[in-house]
Amino acid sequence: MQHNHHARLQKRGNFCTVPDVGQGAPTFPSLPMVRSNPAPCTHTCAAASAPTAAPGPAAYKASFTQLAHRTCNDLSSVLTPTLDLSTMPRRCSSSVGGSVPGLAMAAAASWLLVVAAVLAGVADGQLQVGFYSSSCPGAESTVASVVRQAGSADPTILPALLRLQFHDCFVRGCDGSVLIKGGGGSAEVDNSKHQGLRGLEIIEGAKTQLEAQCPGVVSCADIVALAARDAVAFTGGPSFDVPTGRRDGKVSNLRDADALPDAHDGIGALRSKFRANGLDEKDLVLLTAAHTVGTTACFFLQDRLYNFPLPGGGRGADPTIPPGFLSELKSRCAPGDFNTRLPLDRGSGGVFDTSILRNIRNGFAVIGSDAALYNDTATVDVVDSYSGLLSNFFGPYFRQDFADAMVRMGSIGVVTGGAGEVRKVCSKFN
Ligand code: HEM
Repeated sequence: MQHNHHARLQKRGNFCTVPDVGQGAPTFPSLPMVRSNPAPCTHTCAAASAPTAAPGPAAYKASFTQLAHRTCNDLSSVLTPTLDLSTMPRRCSSSVGGSVPGLAMAAAASWLLVVAAVLAGVADGQLQVGFYSSSCPGAESTVASVVRQAGSADPTILPALLRLQFHDCFVRGCDGSVLIKGGGGSAEVDNSKHQGLRGLEIIEGAKTQLEAQCPGVVSCADIVALAARDAVAFTGGPSFDVPTGRRDGKVSNLRDADALPDAHDGIGALRSKFRANGLDEKDLVLLTAAHTVGTTACFFLQDRLYNFPLPGGGRGADPTIPPGFLSELKSRCAPGDFNTRLPLDRGSGGVFDTSILRNIRNGFAVIGSDAALYNDTATVDVVDSYSGLLSNFFGPYFRQDFADAMVRMGSIGVVTGGAGEVRKVCSKFN
């Protein structure tokens, strides 16, 4: 992504962001072009990332890796000489405080730490934004153009590509294992947890083009991550930088996908499945809000509408569904209808927005796992924090936080450095 290196950084939430156009503040409430992993205010970034108590080398490494991946992941733009670093401490209020020379030194020290962290990451085979900028400069634009074309021909493919990354990352990490086919029904993708997964051929199409451009360079796991990022942007969601450098895994096991969250999972199961992947309740809510776009098959509603275990015994409809909405859902999904599809975000299925969270808050969640987010104080608070109309103006900023959560999800269990392989064909090991 191109950035205006001359732009002054502004503090928003925990980040300094680059105004979209012209000088002044970004336009509210619509923030489509605000970078979602913006350049951090240096001192805040360092303060937030430094381990607090007697950290060992591993803690430092984790901390700096996180720093490099999550908030400082576009250093190339902020380290250019054209940026006036001296303005940053003044424009971004510091939690550290101190005199101007002190701040300047702190800022310089922070930048050195950041540079060291990034260099360590590169040497260690960590993810980084622009990983293919010299080895395959057209990688990101090729994926974007393949996704754009696919989305123009069939807009429903965009949500499918977003879901594909979730299914890749939650099983053995973001290693492209979900793309492997064959094996007589024993491949991971054959697990019923992947029911309805689509878009694998789009990833393969991008891979074919990239193999022609730069053979053996761009991994399928990275194509999945980039395609999901582009799908978010093309449905009206935020544009954001994706760290790349994932390699493809060499294992595909049917049973590994058992670990995926389920549409019938309660809040406890959802929380623990996310926690197992290093994601917290906030990530759970933010990432599930991907259901702002796309559809579900009635298959995933059958139990909720007709076979839900009732408190007094017996089976029927989930009693938490408001009566009017229940009739609506039943009229769309008759008993035994597995194939009809309906939007996950009632009334706003084609647009990337926060309406899904308001639907969840108001009892209009379509699938049970979405409804479950309103069954636990920790997740209720997160849902509420993003559903108010004022959050567009005063934060928390859904678009920015969603993008950050996507980057976190995209870092789960990545294969880097000399491990794994770069597949020639995404559906087959080399
Ligand atoms: C919290 C656990 C989650 C559960 C239980 C869940 C479950 C489901 C189910 C049952 C569907 C319908 C599938 C179909 O009928 O084709 C679906 C669709 C979808 N999911 Fe999730 N999901 C979860 C989290 C996520 C996450 C983390 C993302 C991405 C960040 C995501 C993105 C999507 C998208 C975009 C669709 C629409 C797909 C389409 O229209 O083809 N989901 N999800």
